[in-house]
Amino acid sequence: MIGLFERLARPFLHALDPEDAHSLTIKMLAYAPLLRAAGDDKRLAVRAFGLNFPNPIGMAAGFDKNGEVPDALLRLGFGFVETGTVTPLPQRGNPRPRVFRLNADRGVINRLGFNSQGAEAVLRRLAARANAGGIVGINIGANKDEADRVADYARLIERFAPVASYVTINISSPNTPGLRNLQQAEALDDLLARVIDARERVTRRAGPTPALLKIAPDLSLAELDDAVGVARARRVDGMIVGNTTLTRPASLREMKIAKEAGGLSGRPLLPLATRMLAETYVRVEGAFPLIGVGGIDSGAAALAKIRAGASLIQLYSALVFRGLGLIAEIKAALLSALERDSLDSLSELVGADAAAVTAEAWPQ
Ligand SMILES: Cc1cc2nc3c(=O)[nH]c(=O)nc-3n(C[C@H](O)[C@H](O)[C@H](O)COP(=O)(O)O)c2cc1C
Repeated sequence: MIGLFERLARPFLHALDPEDAHSLTIKMLAYAPLLRAAGDDKRLAVRAFGLNFPNPIGMAAGFDKNGEVPDALLRLGFGFVETGTVTPLPQRGNPRPRVFRLNADRGVINRLGFNSQGAEAVLRRLAARANAGGIVGINIGANKDEADRVADYARLIERFAPVASYVTINISSPNTPGLRNLQQAEALDDLLARVIDARERVTRRAGPTPALLKIAPDLSLAELDDAVGVARARRVDGMIVGNTTLTRPASLREMKIAKEAGGLSGRPLLPLATRMLAETYVRVEGAFPLIGVGGIDSGAAALAKIRAGASLIQLYSALVFRGLGLIAEIKAALLSALERDSLDSLSELVGADAAAVTAEAWPQ
């Protein structure tokens, strides 16, 4: 039903401004009657961060920023949904237009700048569905004008822990000036000390709430050494690699749109994001699981992420170009990969190619 509806709607959505198309999609998901996707094959189940995921495919942050449609997304077959980024206070983000499609490249550039309805509104929605089951995480950020950004993160963890399956500390958005500086060793250590402290406090009240760190794919390898070192020392529960990139690969064909300021996602991001994932995997040495995100638009790309070191994956941009059928396609591809190697679980594939990927030439 949604498949047919989507096939009819996609050309229409593509004729709209990308942000209008997105708002309309959220409304459709909120109001359209959705049949639940078929149950997942047990071999796709993943246990990570103390949580049981029915399948490894997550909706990446930024699609459902305000927690309006997590249950619709779960019904459509996602194994988990990351709502947010939410900021403590409502803010509008940057002036429009601020989302651009690179059609020939199957990419997206955005400079939304944390447009958010704010913590209050999102908390209310997540609290209303807290007993509905399914894994729904919250991605948290800082208000643009807040002087003490670290305090924002600590406060949001405490507030969201009772209603979210996990919390992602997003310090990798390129569209809030200075935010990415929080990834530098000293600032990151201070941030994580306070964040993990908040995690420990809420655990006593609300039970365990895994805290994940989402990084940019644009870190140098020396910066990545530091970030992983601090994340391990401060005992984060996992990392997400990664956010959008400020780089513009030489292969891009939409030269004019590529000049727009903002973070690039979708297919052109796949080589860099997968390389950074493998580089992270070899540095983490199994201390915690990783979520691989960036450019997944096929079963083969999903499998490559897992083999590069991802226990779980997330996607966003490819939905614009490929639609929701991609979820079933990825599940089928993962199952046939398991069958090919006579394996019972995806965990046996995680990181299988990490060393080989880190030995390749740096993606251009
Ligand atoms: C329009 C748009 C908005 C996004 N907003 C957020 C956000 O609020 N927080 C965040 O952590 N990542 C955000 N992202 C990044 C995605 O979560 C993801 O890391 C990135 O797009 C790479 O995945 P993809 O190539 O599958 O899209 C956004 C991406 C897009 C395209």
